[in-house]
Amino acid sequence: MAQQSDAIEALYGENRKFPPPPEFQARAVVSDDEIYRRAEADPEAFWAEQAETLDWFKPWDTVLEWEPPFAKWFTGGKLNASVNCVDRHVAAGRGDKVAYYFEGEPGDRRALTYAELLTEVCRCANALKELGVRRGDRVAIYMPMVLELPIAILACARIGAPHTVVFGGFSAEALRDRILDADARFVITADGGYRRGKPFALKAQADRALAETPAVRNVLVVRRTGEEVAMQGGRDLWWHEVVARQADECEPEQMDSEDMLYLLYTSGSTGKPKGILHTTAGYLLGTSFTHRHVFDLQDDDIYWCAADIGWVTGHSYIVYGPLANGATGVLYEGTPDYPGFDRWWEIIERYGVTILYCAPTAIRAHMKWGAEHAGKHDLSSLRLLGSVGEPINPEAWIWYHQTIGGGRCPIVDTWWQTETGSILISPLPGVTTTKPGSATFPLPGIGADVVDEAGNSVPLGRGGYLVLTRPWPSMLRGIYGDPERYKETYWSRYPGKYFVGDGCKRDDEGYYWLLGRVDDVMNISGHRISTTEIESSLVSDPRVAEAAVVGQPDPVTGEAIFCFVILRSGVTASPELGQELRQHVAKQIGAFARPKTVMFTPDLPKTRSGKIMRRLLRDVASGRTLGDTTTLADASVVEQIRAASTSAKSDE
Ligand code: WT7
Repeated sequence: MAQQSDAIEALYGENRKFPPPPEFQARAVVSDDEIYRRAEADPEAFWAEQAETLDWFKPWDTVLEWEPPFAKWFTGGKLNASVNCVDRHVAAGRGDKVAYYFEGEPGDRRALTYAELLTEVCRCANALKELGVRRGDRVAIYMPMVLELPIAILACARIGAPHTVVFGGFSAEALRDRILDADARFVITADGGYRRGKPFALKAQADRALAETPAVRNVLVVRRTGEEVAMQGGRDLWWHEVVARQADECEPEQMDSEDMLYLLYTSGSTGKPKGILHTTAGYLLGTSFTHRHVFDLQDDDIYWCAADIGWVTGHSYIVYGPLANGATGVLYEGTPDYPGFDRWWEIIERYGVTILYCAPTAIRAHMKWGAEHAGKHDLSSLRLLGSVGEPINPEAWIWYHQTIGGGRCPIVDTWWQTETGSILISPLPGVTTTKPGSATFPLPGIGADVVDEAGNSVPLGRGGYLVLTRPWPSMLRGIYGDPERYKETYWSRYPGKYFVGDGCKRDDEGYYWLLGRVDDVMNISGHRISTTEIESSLVSDPRVAEAAVVGQPDPVTGEAIFCFVILRSGVTASPELGQELRQHVAKQIGAFARPKTVMFTPDLPKTRSGKIMRRLLRDVASGRTLGDTTTLADASVVEQIRAASTSAKSDE
């Protein structure tokens, strides 16, 4: 067993192994581990070689200028992201290939080819220029998941205007704060979008934000729902009026490698949102390289990332990575449970999706709804599955593998962050033998380590803190307007190393197991225990769909383990079941990790990107008044949980 001094203890053992299926390996983009050795021997040479796959107006002079913690990649080079994502595929004769199959929630559909995408991007870019948007101006984008969203993003990139996309589910206040921090003078939005069968308003929200952002000069509005909106004369313009009449060619700006491509705000657990700054060449390289290698992209793939473009996952793996690789993607506007629980599986069947990339929270929701919904559809086109956003519990992994993947699809559990820009720790599906719940190994060229409090590398089999040991092309270049916060947040804890903020263990074979945010670690009688491992143990009981674990102040043990448990459809909560689950964890992990309380709940508080907000659950568990709930997807959930009473308490 792990020793008391460990930064975070490694408790949960998972021994199942899944080597790449031979038929998958036979046609894989990467089928042996030579690429790891080549990259490790000379990372800069490796990235330079990969950067040849991009289209440059002018090649770079220097691969990397590294003055910790500030990196510049491919300095002297000139390129344009929209050219890399669109023009070059059309020029290569692939203009008729579909870039996106769009499916609106109400069922409206449109296939957009690369040639059509080029025209749309150029028109939108020309419209922005007509409004006076200049190279370097920031443009805020607040839109539903419709085709005009990637078009607007690429139009900004074409004219060198950094975009800042604000997720359409965010409030007017959140939009206002981001417009102000980015000092954006232009906004692109829509009247609204569709969610759960109903139109939701965006323009009205935007108007509330715009009342407090006087520097905004123009607002371009896409008509999506047709609901009535207020248009302010002189400021607000309809997309279909302004964009449609533009010329369908637009000369792209020649951008420097290190010119800002976009800002994307992350909330962080406390404090004001951070504007994460990404630049052009390194980001494009990181996203296209990983999209091709991690998702084993083949020319005939139909790739679906079910995230929202408003998060980094959508920026990197719906827009920039896939388009830079000339892939065909699916863009779906709505929720997975409308009009039925089988909407996703229907989409997969309709388009013949071969690669599905989604979050564990979605997988666990599907587990809860039941396997019968997937069973109604032919999912045999799928050949690869991906997971991102949180640690995936081994049982959710197995469910995904069996029920969705039919036991034949490798799973890539991809670890990364808004800050990293692209996937850094993940299997390569034609090479890596996977273990359910492990993101496996750092990708070729990536330097990672697991360290203790003092910054020393911990031996295999132990837990600690994940760090990144060298710069990588798609890394954030800073926090917009706040270099001190950038240094402080990521580079001050371990000099010269990037502090990720996640706990991690490596098993005896060197596999990386992410253990959640370090803020979530519990201290039980001096044992530093990751919430992830207790959650995985709970979810390994077939009656449990989802679990969230927090520490509750305890006079004896310092903290006690408090579990919120969502049961699968058809299972009834009872005090006996609570006792059984407590016993199950004690048996699987150890008596010291026996939960003190199991509370059954219909739902859990999550951020809008689907991460469980353990901070709020800690408040519930300790009976405190609630902390900030502004980024909560459904604020009533916490009150429901508080009101719920079916819980099994320890009598010890
Ligand atoms: C944090 C970053 C990366 C795009 C979506 C989230 C957690 C992400 C995994 C994974 C375990 C993961 C980490 C990370 N996370 N992927 N495969 N296994 N944890 O981006 O909002 O910037 O969040 O998400 O805690 O630090 P983000």
